Amino acid sequence: MNDKLQEIKKRAFEQIENAQELDALNDVRVAILGKKGELTAVLKSMKDVAPEDRPKVGQMVNDARADIESKLALAKEKLESAEMEMKLKNEVIDVTLPAKKAKIGHNHPNIAALEEVEDIFIGMGYEVVEGPEIEYDYYNFEALNIPADHPAKDEQDTFYIDKNILLRTQTSPVQARVMEQGKLPIRIIAPGRVFRADEVDATHSPSFHQIEGMVIDKNITFADLKGTLQEFARKLFGEDTKVKFRPHHFPFTEPSAEVDVTCFKCGGKGCRFCKGEGWIEILGCGMVHPHVLEMSGIDPNEYQGFAFGVGLERIALLKYEIDDMRLLYENDDRFLKQF
Ligand code: DAH
Repeated sequence: MNDKLQEIKKRAFEQIENAQELDALNDVRVAILGKKGELTAVLKSMKDVAPEDRPKVGQMVNDARADIESKLALAKEKLESAEMEMKLKNEVIDVTLPAKKAKIGHNHPNIAALEEVEDIFIGMGYEVVEGPEIEYDYYNFEALNIPADHPAKDEQDTFYIDKNILLRTQTSPVQARVMEQGKLPIRIIAPGRVFRADEVDATHSPSFHQIEGMVIDKNITFADLKGTLQEFARKLFGEDTKVKFRPHHFPFTEPSAEVDVTCFKCGGKGCRFCKGEGWIEILGCGMVHPHVLEMSGIDPNEYQGFAFGVGLERIALLKYEIDDMRLLYENDDRFLKQF
């Protein structure tokens, strides 16, 4: 009997030492000490042992069991601590590794251009105001001296919501809204989104941005308008920039003009950028029409003013030398991060 027990114990010890994982160790325990285990079988066969030998044999079986159990416990402890060590090793954080760079956003070319324009006019004492994108026909057209049969009112150009409400086609309605409030003098710029039923191409989009400007005060003349826009062009495109006023027509200004600046690439000699012209058109402007002043409750004999409208995308495209307006709307990270 003793031999058999020693044999079981020896084999158990070997298997325990060979077990590389906790699962394997458990298998050994079940095979020897489990309900159907080898040592359990020996215990069950005690009934065949002569009664006088039973205490002695029982003691031997128990000793063998205790030895195997303590060997198992030791091996288990060893495997568990090895496993823990492995886990800690895998979870180790190397604080000396370089950190992942956070992506930092930056201004869209439109915003950069807008901020530049705003800074220039704020520096000249202007206030920045805003008006609604969904506008009454009255403010977008009527109050600006654009009568019902004017071609600009053609439904092809304007997105109408109903007969009286539309998506503003220009930022000029903000002029009428500000004048109506009756607080004089006025010195404002009004940036914002405008909408026109245009097909998308390199220079058109159904939604773009304008910056409106207006000054109303006593004794304002065309000379003030010229000086203001000359200064604006110099600040925006460089000190040597010259401006040229070309006669034009806008219903809400009289007289009206379009303004060109000398090409800031070639200085006016003519290049690919200005298509050989030497000049680049940047805005529309004029003296506020007396009828427009009257409709907003301002006496044209007492007050005069000038106004202008700049296309924001046009400024952004020029300043950052972008040749397709669509690039401004696609929000392609690879494009935007160049600015
Ligand atoms: N609203 C005009 C447009 O969309 C631009 C403009 C021209 C605005 C002359 C003005 C102005 O205030 O005086 O084309």
